[in-house]
Amino acid sequence: MKILVVNGPNLQLLGKRRPDVYGRATLRDVEASLRRRAEELDADLVFFQSCVEGELAERIGNSGQEGFDGIVVNPAAYTHTSVAMRDAIEASGLPAVEVHISNVHRREDFRRKSLTAPVCAGQICGLGVKGYELALEALADIIGSKRKRKK
Ligand code: DQA
Repeated sequence: MKILVVNGPNLQLLGKRRPDVYGRATLRDVEASLRRRAEELDADLVFFQSCVEGELAERIGNSGQEGFDGIVVNPAAYTHTSVAMRDAIEASGLPAVEVHISNVHRREDFRRKSLTAPVCAGQICGLGVKGYELALEALADIIGSKRKRKK
């Protein structure tokens, strides 16, 4: 199974930006541990990070036609603002799991609203970077049961 892992704006700064909120692991560290877990799950991962809304929407929107089976996505600040990302996730036709490293419900009010969560299979938040691995596991299950249903 082929999975697109998308990270939105400012997540390239993981490890340096607000370590009190997001921890000390870098995006590289996250990618390395995800790759290890993906091997066990027999999944191929493609990573994409951008601070540009249009690039994110384009990458996600095209993923369904590019042979991906699912998406792990941390839309970061665009979670709370981007109709374009929401529409792209929906248009991909793929199951997606939304990840937030921090507990968005414990922070400012504007972080409570997610425009993207309603078009995702589920959302994981507040569990640190471990959330990415949990999202990958959940997505692998969703893709597995979808395949079984098709047989
Ligand atoms: C975040 C939460 C967002 O509110 C914030 O804008 C981010 C990161 C998280 O992973 O906790 O950039 O998505």
